[in-house]
Amino acid sequence: MIRLTMIAVVLALAVTTSTTALRAADRQQDQIQARLHDLFQAKCRMCHEGYRALAKLELILRANRLVGRYSDHDVLEFMDGHGHATAEEAKAITKRLIRIRKALDREQDTEPAQRQMRRQRRDRQ
Ligand code: HEC
Repeated sequence: MIRLTMIAVVLALAVTTSTTALRAADRQQDQIQARLHDLFQAKCRMCHEGYRALAKLELILRANRLVGRYSDHDVLEFMDGHGHATAEEAKAITKRLIRIRKALDREQDTEPAQRQMRRQRRDRQ
């Protein structure tokens, strides 16, 4: 009986600790999401135009993974350490880039064909 109680206590502790850790990770992600603009200014701006420009010109979704259009980099892996981004920042940045890329793809899907042709001609210039 005592042994059963001990097992129950250990299990309860393990569950509490892991959910607390998960919640802390979520909170950290929320905090990073909230300051993604400042993060870009501090760590990326000297070499890149912005998240939107990156997503539009350099990145593509392939089977729901964000990859370099020309480099074939897996962006989530590539971002970890790139531009001094931490693993958590890399995750938040990749999420933002995926959201922008999806929105761009949706825009293109619904764009009337004529306008799309005009835009493509303009983008090539
Ligand atoms: C010192 C300049 C520099 C800084 C700072 C920098 N980058 Fe880059 N970035 C590059 C270069 C150069 C490449 C192309 C590298 C390659 O293809 O191997 C690149 C590639 C990338 C790619 C992948 C593009 C592809 O086609 O694979 C992403 C996404 C990206 N950077 C985002 C960021 C973000 C977000 C930050 C800020 C946290 C950042 N970069 C900071 C220079 C920089």
